[in-house]
Amino acid sequence: MEPTVRQTGFVGDLLAEHQELMQKIAELQKFWHEVDELGIGPKCQELADRLADIREHLQLHFDAEERDGYLGPALKMAPRFAQEADALRAQHVTMLQSLDGLGGRLRTGGQEIWNSVCAEIEAFVSDLEHHEHRENGIVQAAFNDDGGAGD
Ligand SMILES: [Fe+2]
Ligand SMILES: [Fe+2]
Repeated sequence: MEPTVRQTGFVGDLLAEHQELMQKIAELQKFWHEVDELGIGPKCQELADRLADIREHLQLHFDAEERDGYLGPALKMAPRFAQEADALRAQHVTMLQSLDGLGGRLRTGGQEIWNSVCAEIEAFVSDLEHHEHRENGIVQAAFNDDGGAGD
């Protein structure tokens, strides 16, 4: 087998989507860090709008992951990850609910809300990164099980 594996189809799409998502998250973090550094905040409404944009993107991403059964192509190759996948799929609902809650609080505005929500978004981002990292692990392990040829 070639030492470099071809990342095509389901695996390649998933990794690309995760990269795109993390890019959006990085832009969000940059926004609120700049607001804090420059002392031009709070900008709760703008953050709420940006969060709503991320939420929409995340919903589409989750829908794509669940379209043929959550991580279906990967689990077909490596059913041993089914239990871990169940736990990860359940996180989709709770992550969207978290974003809804944070967005709702931001709409009420104020410095205190800004401070607490920004801290919670930081925690949310860390949870999301962990989630995506585990998904990458599953699809890559499944892909390797399959000899690096499937998608
Ligand atoms: Fe996911
Ligand atoms: Fe994902």
